[in-house]
Amino acid sequence: MASQAHNAVGSPIERREGGAKVSGGALYATEYTPPGCVYAWLVTATVPKGRVASLDTAAALKVPGVLAVLTPDSAPRLADTDDATLAVLQNSEVPHHGWPVALAVAETLEAARAAAGSVGVAYETEPHESVLTEDPPGAYTPDEVNGGHPTERRRGDPEGRFAAAPVKIDARYRVPPLYNHPMEPHGATASWRDGRLTVYDTSQGADPVRAVLAQVFELPEERVTVVCEHVGGGFGSKGTPRPHVVLAAMASLHVRRPVKLALTRRQLTELVGHRAPTDHRLRLGAEPDGTLTSLIHEVTTHTSRIKEFVEQAAVPGRVMYAGANSLTAHRVAALDVPTPSWMRAPGEAPGMYALESAVDELACALAMDPIELRTRNEPDEEPDSGRPFSSRHLVECLREGAKRFGWAERDHRAGVRRSGAWLTGTGVAAATYPVLVSPSRATVTAHPDGLHVVRINATDIGTGARTVLAQIAAEALGVGAEAVRTEIGTTGLPKAPLAGGSSGTASWGWAVHEACRSLARRLHERSGPLPPEGLTASADTRGTADAESPYARHAFGAHFAEVGVDTDTGEVRVRRLLGVYAAGRILNPRTAGSQFIGGMVMGLGMALTEGGRVDPASGAFLGSDLAGYHVPAHADVPEVEAHWIDEEDAHLNPMGSKGIGEIGIVGTAAAIGNAVHHATGIRFRELPLTPDQVH
Ligand code: MOS
Repeated sequence: MASQAHNAVGSPIERREGGAKVSGGALYATEYTPPGCVYAWLVTATVPKGRVASLDTAAALKVPGVLAVLTPDSAPRLADTDDATLAVLQNSEVPHHGWPVALAVAETLEAARAAAGSVGVAYETEPHESVLTEDPPGAYTPDEVNGGHPTERRRGDPEGRFAAAPVKIDARYRVPPLYNHPMEPHGATASWRDGRLTVYDTSQGADPVRAVLAQVFELPEERVTVVCEHVGGGFGSKGTPRPHVVLAAMASLHVRRPVKLALTRRQLTELVGHRAPTDHRLRLGAEPDGTLTSLIHEVTTHTSRIKEFVEQAAVPGRVMYAGANSLTAHRVAALDVPTPSWMRAPGEAPGMYALESAVDELACALAMDPIELRTRNEPDEEPDSGRPFSSRHLVECLREGAKRFGWAERDHRAGVRRSGAWLTGTGVAAATYPVLVSPSRATVTAHPDGLHVVRINATDIGTGARTVLAQIAAEALGVGAEAVRTEIGTTGLPKAPLAGGSSGTASWGWAVHEACRSLARRLHERSGPLPPEGLTASADTRGTADAESPYARHAFGAHFAEVGVDTDTGEVRVRRLLGVYAAGRILNPRTAGSQFIGGMVMGLGMALTEGGRVDPASGAFLGSDLAGYHVPAHADVPEVEAHWIDEEDAHLNPMGSKGIGEIGIVGTAAAIGNAVHHATGIRFRELPLTPDQVH
């Protein structure tokens, strides 16, 4: 039902705030400077475990311009939340390296930094354990894993069928800790006035931040305003309220001035969540014709001592392949490490690296084309739940990708394409990501001058939310997108869920669509000019909790990679990346293409260069700034193409869309790793594939 309306859904229009962003006009959280604003700088723990024995602030308080040094003794008291990572400066315990121990506040940023550097901290330390081993002492089976998934699922007789399988793979894969480094580091500007708190925060959702601030400062939510107008990326690290916003509000309360606090890059890794390391054991058993007879994926990971977060990396094994015998299970060890959290496609990104690498190994063992192997094990229904898929076009993605990539000409022998020192190879992997939709609210007002104003507290984390919501509204109203203005990014607007789980557009768009349809009906029924204040309609949508649906709903995709491997240095260069997706209706090809490509580039970093490490002595994350943690730069990013197939699915939302923010990273590292094997004939099973490992 393509609309005739100009620039409505399906048009590749440019993002509305693009000009403001590239010209510096778009303000980010720490670019707001209320009158009288002062600056804060955080002091963090340099030991892995123990307590602060003493804090000497005398020298810090002598720094010219300093206003205060907040410590566990002097900082405002906070009410409890169920998020222990937010209980900052409340006691002297140090649960991990990087934990906040003091906060300096001064008239200038320089003075705050100097004061923070002058705080003397003495610690009592305790023995600690910060490094995840293959069989960590104290590892346990959690009650559930991230996303509310069961920690273990078992069907049939996976071990027995594996033992009896004529062809089998038993391999371990490791993904290191990965750091969230959005372009805009975490920061906030906070001010109090007449018992009301206003913060400018960088977050994926202003409403959850407001709820937490109201809780810890014991205020009614109406007395807290949270503005997240522009956000420079989040990837999950801004999906929950973070300590910086609580600290900025505490400091402002303490010094009775507006306060700005920005975390440094190095502080980010230890305070805003990381992707936990995962150790995978994959066992696949098959008949000689490729039929999978057993799929066993066991994951070991870590969490912190103060909060449980379990990367659900075995969950995609419940979705991907047919077979009556399967075990997918997680174990977790609580270590003296910062608390892990969401990072783009938590679960699927590391899980599909391991699973799709193992499928490639099995294809090699069977001497079978890896696309053919996947196709032979395509399920008729979701293997774990028995529910029908609302739509599943994985095979179409693999075939379309194969055609575009030139897969048919591939010589399946490994390690035979040499030119000088360079070996060349190609690889493929599948991708999947669930369809998630949350409840939302929106209003829309038709004004007498022909403008339609959509109001919803959505958050644009760099995806183009304003633009695509205007397109959704335009289609539902039957007007051009130019006739729609979108107001988002503050708690003053109708309540909406966060930009996370690739669910933002579907959740917000559903409410916007409903409000606009309702307004269009009322406009149609009435005659005469609109009143000066216009005509307003609103909608509350429930979303669709996955458990309630009779359908299994997931996006699928296929990733193809070509690599060169320098046999002298071990350097791997990705030469081509190509993704094909089946993600429902694509609402804006321009912004959607950017999402897919961004995900693939992040997957390229995961494959080749991004690797966090815990220093066993100090419990610190090493190489935690952008000098020590290499995210892909332009010179690393070759030809990257994103394509999609037209997919109609009536079981999603009124727009017919699936989420697209995360699937681009899923399986990309496996496609690259499989290409490295094809190039070299050697299977590397530990990311990232840096020269020291590959040479
Ligand atoms: Mo995404 S990791 O749900 O922000």
